[in-house]
Parts: sequence; structure tokens; C-alpha cells
Amino acid sequence: MTTSTIQNLMKQMTLDEKIAQLLQLAGPFFKGSSEQGHITGPMAAMPISDEHIKNAGSVLGVSGAAEVISIQSTHLENNRLGIPLLFMADIVHGYKTIFPVPLAIACSWDPELAQKSAEIAAKEAAVSGVHVTFAPMVDLVRDPRWGRVMESTGEDSYLNQVFAKAFVRGFQGPDLANDPQSVAACVKHFAAYGAAEAGRDYNTVDLSERQLREFYLPAYKAALNEGCEMVMTAFNTVDGIPATGNEKLMRSLLRDEWGFDGILISDWGAVKELIPHGVAEDDKEAALKAIKAGVDIEMMTACYVQHLAELVSEGEIEEAIIDEAVLRILTLKDKLRLFEKPNRGVDVELEQQVVGHQDHLQVSKELATKSCVLLKNDHHILPLNKNKNIALIGPFVDSGDILGPWSALGLKEEAVTLKQAFEKHLPIEQLNIVTGCHVETISSQQLEEAVHAASSADVIIVAVGEDSEMSGEAGCRTNIQLPAPQLELLKALATCGKPIITILFNGRPLDLHGVLEYSDAILEAWYPGSEGGSAIVDLLYGIAIPSGKLTMSFPVNVGQVPVYYNHFNTGRPKGAPDAQERYVSQYLDAPNDPMFPFGFGLSYTQFSYSDLELTSTQLTTDTEITATVNVSNVGSFTGEEIVQFYIQDLVGEVVRPMKELKSFQSITLEPGDTKQVTFTITEQQLRYHHADFSFKSDKGSFILYAGTNSIDVLSHSFQLISQGRN
Ligand code: BGC
Repeated sequence: MTTSTIQNLMKQMTLDEKIAQLLQLAGPFFKGSSEQGHITGPMAAMPISDEHIKNAGSVLGVSGAAEVISIQSTHLENNRLGIPLLFMADIVHGYKTIFPVPLAIACSWDPELAQKSAEIAAKEAAVSGVHVTFAPMVDLVRDPRWGRVMESTGEDSYLNQVFAKAFVRGFQGPDLANDPQSVAACVKHFAAYGAAEAGRDYNTVDLSERQLREFYLPAYKAALNEGCEMVMTAFNTVDGIPATGNEKLMRSLLRDEWGFDGILISDWGAVKELIPHGVAEDDKEAALKAIKAGVDIEMMTACYVQHLAELVSEGEIEEAIIDEAVLRILTLKDKLRLFEKPNRGVDVELEQQVVGHQDHLQVSKELATKSCVLLKNDHHILPLNKNKNIALIGPFVDSGDILGPWSALGLKEEAVTLKQAFEKHLPIEQLNIVTGCHVETISSQQLEEAVHAASSADVIIVAVGEDSEMSGEAGCRTNIQLPAPQLELLKALATCGKPIITILFNGRPLDLHGVLEYSDAILEAWYPGSEGGSAIVDLLYGIAIPSGKLTMSFPVNVGQVPVYYNHFNTGRPKGAPDAQERYVSQYLDAPNDPMFPFGFGLSYTQFSYSDLELTSTQLTTDTEITATVNVSNVGSFTGEEIVQFYIQDLVGEVVRPMKELKSFQSITLEPGDTKQVTFTITEQQLRYHHADFSFKSDKGSFILYAGTNSIDVLSHSFQLISQGRN
């Protein structure tokens, strides 16, 4: 269709029909839908009539080829002008084949594989009828109390941008319009949802414009630059005004400054939530504020369909503002060719073949292997020798609850558990499997059995963690240690005098007190997805070598939160040569540094860094510096290393972070081998928002760091001798 055909269609639409296009309803509202759909928010009674449903523009949380075809065809029969529905769903880290949670995916530092996972998710979802996924979630996170950190790619703005782009490329493919195996992406949650005060979901966000622009906004922008079709609002306030009613954020910044002309959708119920936020008196005012702010689709509340027409007739808003929103929605429907093929991509037979395909599971396993992070490995206890007798203990040994929140159609019963993977790998006589405790309870009998099993084994493997309900949306915790019964189990096992290898299944960085002291090795497996068990067994036995690195710091304890690598120095930094003992920025009862920093992760082999050299120590706007560093494998396994480059601007007009990740490179080295890794420094990489928000660099001294994580680095200084700006 051309724009004028869409406009002609709009001319035939009544005002009520147009307004109904702005309504998004969950599956259960539609005839032909299964009872439930995927409900991800409160299902308040909604004042919705059959007429609204007939004319609604989109549906969420429904998938499955037969069901989608049935809803779409009923809809087309009932809709006067034959306008098809858009089907949207949360396909976050897989549809049926479940990949590790995004925080884990990020720990692979492998954007190509991340892209591949999104491609597969899109393929499976599209054949099952999904047109738009509510992903990627690119919120920057610094507070592990917040349950949704598992859905983010971590604390670093640069890395978040890299993954935002990779996910959008994966979901949308190179030709969204013509490729029915792709889905449109919807970046969320705009903006700064990850900065909820005290890590409590839906809580206030209060950031300076500088923090927003420097750290939080770039990943949303990166997704849009990659062609992401939609944006979802955040539940929180931004500078005192809820994002969903925030004209400055949505109109001035998103639309005017960034030039975004795609669809802006509210989060679930967020339009009506302007009332409890305290910026709208009632549904009518909520509708007024949201439409004025530029929200096109209202998800799961009825303020628009109830009040927009009235607001037009009262002259509070122009009909043009509604037309603008409808045009965007119809344009996406048209772009996806839904007017010609309302059943775009969806195919009952193909669905059987594509969804959960063996090749997809293979990629999931590969990604899970690369996502696990080895946090500790004393005395090279790992990898294990196949002759050892193993006591396999813990609530996650025989649990399929390793897919994590937002796992769409993934079934726990189908996930490869640790037990299944071990039973494939070892003769049964070498394995003694006991539960030890449940996630949140323990009995003395369980404890006895566990100690008994452990006593007769060579090695104890303990699988502990948080169940998936303990993170994800509304899954916040103030205590980020393992639940007490699991700590009790570990403590008891430690009395057996056998080496303990702990596997962690969780969605957030944890306070590892009670784990670190009793474990000889710790493998952070996160929620590893459909093939979790097999990936972990490969790692434990050295069939694969750990290479994952953290993208979010693990605090020493919750009192340190937020603790992140790219903080400022303060005026009284701890550890400065002339620092006093007391009057410095520090805690009396804990270090400033986290337990495990950003970028940290061990391998079975060891890497050594040397000879960080620069082709010049003077940089201008027209020149580049090539930095090289030698990385050697000085251990005895072939391994992959993620080489990280950071820069520090020593003197800025505005205070600059201690380090900022600027580049990384993954290399594989055989034992004894050395590779020279190169990084090109340009003046553009040194630009930031100055006092007046102009984006430019500072002349002066900088330090380049190269290393294996954000703390263990080599350094080299250089000078910028001419200033550049955008
Ligand atoms: C979540 C969104 C999600 C939406 C639809 C909301 O509760 O915040 O991330 O996309 O539900 O399921």
C-alpha cells in the first residue's frame, strides 16, 4: 500500500474505529483464543465492548499457528474494513527453544551468537503467528535487587548498545518487510526503567539529564539506529513525570530530537497508572496525558477507547493527533504486508518442524556454554576427571526451572537438567544424586542424606540458586544471598572434607557469602535455557572451556549496591597516595570494590598480558592511534579470552568515569601461543556530554587500559591535542 492508500483507508474509518486501533488487548478477549493467553500483568476488569474488540488494533500474548489464524480470520470477518490485527508477544530469549537469559547472553560477549539466538527466536515465533516481539529490553542496570536485571545485558552502556543492535538485527533480519520469518522489534522500557530506586520494581527513577544521556539512553538509541520498529514506555517516572505521560521524553526527545516515527506503545496498564502515580485525576486525564505525550497504543487499559472521542469533541485534542497514531499503526501493518497476507509467516504444518528444531537447541547449548562464568577454581579442581565419583546434590540438580523468567513457550519439563546430562555422561555407579534441600526449605532427613552421599564421593557438585519466580518482573529481593536452607546445606557439606563445586542458577548478581568460603570452584550458570544441563556438564569436564565474563558486578554485600565499574573517583578517593585513613570515600565494614568486577571470568587456562604499546601518544581529530597488546596462553588448555579495552579521561569539564569500556575482542589461543590484539583509538571515542550538553572531547591526558577484566589491566597514557565535536 502507498501512504495515500493508507490515508484513503483512514478516511473511511470512523473516529471510534480509529481510536480502537490504538487499543491492545490480551488474547482472552478474542473469540477463538485459548482461555489464558500469556498474562504478564494485572487483569483488571476493563470497560470493553464487543465493538471495541472487533475494531481493536492489536493483541498481545497469543501465539500458536492455529490459534492465531483462527483469531485473525474471525477478526477479519467482523471488522468492517477488514483491518488485520497485529500480534505481539514477549519473545525475549527464545520462543520454544529457550536461550540463556539476556544477562547471561551478554556474559558471552558474543554479539554474533546473540544475534543468531534472536534470529531463531524470530523464526519460531513468526511461524507461530507473532508479528512483533516486546524485545530487546536494553535498560541499563546497577542494582541486583531489581528482579529484571536478568532481562538486561548489564551495567555498561557500550556493551548494552552492542547487544541492542545485535538483537534488533536478529529479530528483524535484513528485510523485515519481505521476510515472513522475521518479527518487528520493540525496544523497551523507555526510559531508564533499570534505575528504579532501591531496586524495587515500578519504583521512582530520578536521574540527572547527564546520567540519562551518558549512560541510560544510548542503548535505546542504538536499537533505533539499527531500525527497531517500536518503542515501549517504562512504568517509572523520569524527572518527576511518569514516562507514559512524559511529553518532554516522548515528544521532544524521542520524536523530535531522535526523529523516531515508529509506534510508541505503553507498557501493560501504564496509561491508567498515571492515576496512582498522581499526575491524572481519572481515566480521561490519563488518556489526555498519554496521547499528548505521543503514546500510540494503550496496552491493556481502556482510557483511550473510553475517552479520546470525548476529548476530541470537547476540543481538548485535535483529531489529527489520533490520526497520527493510527497512521503509524497501519503503516507497520502495511510494512509487514498484513493487508495482503494477514497470516504472514504463520503456518500450522511448518510450525511443527521449525519450533524447537534440533539445530536451534544446538545454538542454545553453544550460547549457554559461552554464557556461564567461572568465578572460582581453586587448585584447578575443574575440569573434572571422568574417573571421579560424584555426589550431585541440590535443588537444581533435577529441576527444569533453569529457563528463567520470560521463557515464552519453553517448558521446564523439556529443559535438559543437570541430572539428565550427568546420567548421559557418567556410568550410573559413579553418580550419587540427592536433593539436599528445596529452594527455600530443608529437612533434617534431606540434610542427612546429602551428607551421607557427599561422604562417599570424590567430589561434591552442588546445584543451588534462586527459582525463576525470585527474579524477573516484580521479583525483587533485599537479601541477595542464596536462601538460607541452601546455605545450610553447603555448610553441612563442607564438613565432609571433599572438594565442592558449586553451580549457581540465578537471575541476578548474588552476595556470595556462605558460598565462596565453602566452594572450591563456582560456576555461575544463570538461567541457561533449554540445554542448560548439557552445556554445564561439557564445561565441568573440559569438553568446553569457560570463557564467559560478567557484565554486571557482583557486590560484596547488598550494602554496597549500586556498585559498578565505571564510577567516578570522588574528591577523596580511597587508596590515593596522600589519602588519610579515615576521611576518604569508603565503608568501615566492607571494601569499595565488588566481589567480582565487571568483565571478570576465569578460564581453565591462564592468560598473560604484556607489551601494551601505542603507535603514537598524541591523538588529533584527524589521526588515529593503534594500540597493541600481547596476550599469551600460559596455561595448559586451549581457551578463549575476551580482551577488554577501557579509556579514562583524566581531566574533563565534567567528571569522567574511572574507566569506560571502548572495545573488546575475543581470541582463541592454544597453550604456549601469543596473539597481538589491536585496538584503534580515535578522537570520536573520547567525546561526551559537556556542561552545556554539547557532545565533544577534551584536550589533555587519557589512559588506555587493556586487560582481562575491568580491574586487572595494563595501562598506557596518551594525549589528545585537538578537540572534536558533533
Ligand atoms: C512488562 C513488559 C512486557 C509487557 C507485556 C509488562 O508487564 O513490563 O516488559 O512487554 O508486560 O507482556
